[in-house]
Amino acid sequence: MSEPVETVWFVWVPSDQGALAHATIKGAGWLLREVQPLNEGGRVGFPLTHSLSATERAAIADEGVTVLASDQRTVERRPAVDPHRRLARAVDEWFQHHLQRPAPHDLQRPSKWERLGELVLVPEGSFTGRAWDDAHRHERAGELWANVAEALGGRSLAVQAPIASDNFRSPQVTLLHGSTQADFMDHGIAYRFDAARVMWSSGNVTERRRIGQLDLSGETVVDAYAGVGYYTLPMLVHGHAAHVHACEWNPASVAGLRTSAGLNNVEERLTVHQGDNAEAMAGLTGQADRVHLGLLPSSEAAWEAAVRCLRDGGGWLHVHMNVEEERIEAWAERTVDQLNGLAIKHGRPFRFTAEHLERVKWFAPRVRHVVLDACARPQIDSIPR
Ligand SMILES: C[S@@+](CC[C@H](N)C(=O)[O-])C[C@H]1O[C@@H](n2cnc3c(N)ncnc32)[C@H](O)[C@@H]1O
Repeated sequence: MSEPVETVWFVWVPSDQGALAHATIKGAGWLLREVQPLNEGGRVGFPLTHSLSATERAAIADEGVTVLASDQRTVERRPAVDPHRRLARAVDEWFQHHLQRPAPHDLQRPSKWERLGELVLVPEGSFTGRAWDDAHRHERAGELWANVAEALGGRSLAVQAPIASDNFRSPQVTLLHGSTQADFMDHGIAYRFDAARVMWSSGNVTERRRIGQLDLSGETVVDAYAGVGYYTLPMLVHGHAAHVHACEWNPASVAGLRTSAGLNNVEERLTVHQGDNAEAMAGLTGQADRVHLGLLPSSEAAWEAAVRCLRDGGGWLHVHMNVEEERIEAWAERTVDQLNGLAIKHGRPFRFTAEHLERVKWFAPRVRHVVLDACARPQIDSIPR
């Protein structure tokens, strides 16, 4: 995307008066921000919004600035700082250049997007509607998508679809330009995976940070729904967990998890159990200090196995669930009762209490993604005397 060239008025002052002149011109509202000042042999030229009148020149001189000259130059505008403006400009330029007309007035441009490294993901439905039809059909559409990606700070562009209701929660992503490979840093952790085949939820950022802030030194953790590791990796890298058993049945997520674990040098403290977590967790009975249950809309299918995974000395469960706003407290109470019922059923020597309820994000109107931190403590009656 090239920046527009235009003819602009400059006022020239001695370089050693540059700071004072800048403050004066900017303070008066005459500085053209989109154009870079020029330096030429001991003098500096400030771009102006208009040609200065004699009175305006005198006002600058009154501030102690020597006005050497004022002239017109043909210059490039600076790229717009606001990505919405860069996006609008990229689209307008493409329409003008390839369709010889301005972009239609009813053209809907995405107003939000997320970036996974160089991959820009725009929401479902972006670039649709009749106003976009000519662009999609055009043989040079590739250039448009490349320019849009660049305007939004990336190199690749894909349109998201709602998370699939298949067992893998695989996203359906339509690639418009580049590659679906996501390669990025998030809170000091490196991730690399194929965004077309695995799910990443940027909305869980606060929860990823919260889980990473727990001190897990010496702990063995089971992540029942590990995905590409957005809880597993913070627990290993920032929480210093002694070991994480990560259960995941989507081969594409497992590939991303293994690659990302390598990038963060934590492979030795990670065991990936590829397949149904029911099988892996059955083999981890009595070994965990903590079980992470990060599946939406509900992780209930793994609660029983999680209760069995905890050591006799107890530990923690992080139970994710989508719950209607007005039922959250009641849900937490019922969940603790249910977990205690499972502990009794399996003769576990501990009982659960609700220690914290985290409201992560809105999932739908009136429905929140919440996480219950349930602590299992040894039952006094069951400790042998
Ligand atoms: C909400 S995503 C987890 C997100 C994850 N924290 C991440 O970093 O991507 C849920 C994950 O659980 C996996 N999953 C769902 N049911 C499973 C099961 N019974 N056994 C193993 N993995 C399962 C899905 O494939 C998906 O990757």
